[in-house]
Amino acid sequence: MDNDAPFLRWAQRVETAMGHALPSASVHPQSLHAAMRHAVLGGGKRIRPLLVYATGSVFGTDERWLDAPAAAVELIHAYSLVHDDLPSMDNDEVRRGRPTVHVAFDEATAILAGDALQSLAFEVLAEAPVASELRVAWLRSLSVAAGAAGMCGGQALDVDATGKAQGLADLERMHRLKTGALIRASVRMGALGGCIDEGTLQLLDKFADALGLAFQVRDDILDVESTSRQLGKTAGKDAAQEKSTYPALLGMDGAKAKLVELDMAMHEALAPFRDHATALWALGKLAIHRTH
Ligand code: IPE
Ligand code: IPE
Ligand code: MG
Ligand code: MG
Ligand code: MG
Repeated sequence: MDNDAPFLRWAQRVETAMGHALPSASVHPQSLHAAMRHAVLGGGKRIRPLLVYATGSVFGTDERWLDAPAAAVELIHAYSLVHDDLPSMDNDEVRRGRPTVHVAFDEATAILAGDALQSLAFEVLAEAPVASELRVAWLRSLSVAAGAAGMCGGQALDVDATGKAQGLADLERMHRLKTGALIRASVRMGALGGCIDEGTLQLLDKFADALGLAFQVRDDILDVESTSRQLGKTAGKDAAQEKSTYPALLGMDGAKAKLVELDMAMHEALAPFRDHATALWALGKLAIHRTH
């Protein structure tokens, strides 16, 4: 793929930014710091940071400006995974091919590491070397997306729906919040540094909405069709825990038909950008076709 080079470079940029922001594991309290580093470094597809840089590239935004929002959204995502894996939530023992944080450390440390990662994300944004208007706009986007009206709200709906039958509209709403909100914020933050045109922002929101839903539908499909080894997390957990998912509600064919529909929605939203959005096209394809 032509885009391998920017993706690799962007992944390295965000890795460096997060490595600098995270507290050293040799500084007291060591176990908290080590748990934070375990949760964030050395794994993960980094799709949210890549979306920040790829959206910035549509407008030719200086990549150095984008390191802060790219790192911040991945820190929020990493915290969401630490808490998602807790015994009181999905009770998972493997993540990114390694023991989950509460297994490698303990439950209290995992809760605190998640809390501290969330705070660190906003600290990174608050200290970003950009104009204060842009900093506040980024802070607003990410805080709304991470909170009760976004990821946390979606996770609450997920917990409520577990073991129960849920209709399609409620399932879609849950997915759009628990996974879609951070993906939408990634694209928004990438756009805000370069774009003030409302029509353009709306097209990018439309793209991000479709990608965010597709990303979780694909996650649900992979939980059924893939292996724990390939995923780096335990496969088959959704059915075992009676999670509300697209394959559970619509069957595998219905879930895959939904991906085709969302692929078309992404194409439609990005068409006006033509080859300025090459990297975003590639990330949209990745959301639909990814194998882990
Ligand atoms: C997993 O996210 C949880 C979902 C929201 C589907 P990712 O598939 O992006 O996980 P990593 O970051 O690559 O491990
Ligand atoms: C998690 O969804 C969404 C989050 C906000 C973390 P899942 O529970 O399906 O994610 P995995 O399958 O554990 O990665
Ligand atoms: Mg979950
Ligand atoms: Mg989970
Ligand atoms: Mg899942």
